[in-house]
Amino acid sequence: MRKSLGVVLAVVPVLAALVVTAPGASAAATTLKAGASAKGRVFGAAVAANRLGESAYVTTLNREFNQATPENEMKWDATEPNRGQFTYGNADRVVNHARGQGMAVRGHTLVWHSQLPGWVSNIGSGSELLSVMRNHISNVAGRYRGQIAYWDVVNEAFADGTSGARRSTVFQQRIGNGYIEEAFRAARTADPSAKLCYNDYNTDGQNAKSTAVYNMVRDFKARGVPIDCVGFQAHLSTGSVPGDIQANLQRFANLGVDVHITELDIGGSGTSQADAYARVIRACLAVSRCNAITVWGVTDKYSWRASQTPLLFDGNYNKKPAYNSVLSVLNS
Ligand code: XIL
Repeated sequence: MRKSLGVVLAVVPVLAALVVTAPGASAAATTLKAGASAKGRVFGAAVAANRLGESAYVTTLNREFNQATPENEMKWDATEPNRGQFTYGNADRVVNHARGQGMAVRGHTLVWHSQLPGWVSNIGSGSELLSVMRNHISNVAGRYRGQIAYWDVVNEAFADGTSGARRSTVFQQRIGNGYIEEAFRAARTADPSAKLCYNDYNTDGQNAKSTAVYNMVRDFKARGVPIDCVGFQAHLSTGSVPGDIQANLQRFANLGVDVHITELDIGGSGTSQADAYARVIRACLAVSRCNAITVWGVTDKYSWRASQTPLLFDGNYNKKPAYNSVLSVLNS
């Protein structure tokens, strides 16, 4: 009798635990990173080194996100402001913070026409610019070798509109079409463990620009140019979420690359903003190779589009309806 009572008492807490956690269901996640992890995804934010001294910023970042993209700190003007002089103070700040928190780091970005120092734009010779580009990639990607989950190797290389043409950047003009694949090859050599991505905007739905990127990726895969992923920036507003975003992500995934939402922000507020966010997150979750989602900032107050309040936390770090909507899609 004493013995069997002991067995019963020992079993009660186990039964109670089973009742609290319904069979087969896990408790709903209460943070973005937990919700994303349960779906096999990472959920990141763009991080600004100069905000890491603000405790509410850091608390929110550390609680909600498990990937960090330096918002400006790895761009060419930050890392090689003068030819051959590399500066990594702010990039290191973001990387060290992220790694200390166990966050993955998305490197952003090695080759871009914007935030490019004048000394690069002024190079007139293609062969000289190609060696300068390779040297930049070798130094920056080499410094963080083994520490970067994904590199946005080339950013925004295609023109807007219906032409499907390459953007007429200094790299395109001087080096020609080959500069993009040369950048990917240099990045692979510099950091063989990083997944290498092409990243662009206005490519979230199917259109002439995204089709031009698609054709490039297909060609790269066919010829063995090292590319692992495509980033879709997704700078959107409530009315501009493409209805075919899932189909577009899927067609890229079918080429054998991962697809990432890399700079998500959606101008708007309230329910319409919440619904727009839900549509993007649902589209990603419906594509198995869509395994990383990054919002372009932590709080509306520091957003590059602050007047459009495009993020998940308001200026006081309160969760917005858009936050609850994203979390509930991740939990669904
Ligand atoms: C933006 C930053 O958020 C701003 O702080 C900076 O002044 C300009 O660049 N596409 C990109 C990002 O790939 O690097 C840009 O970030 C936003 C558009």
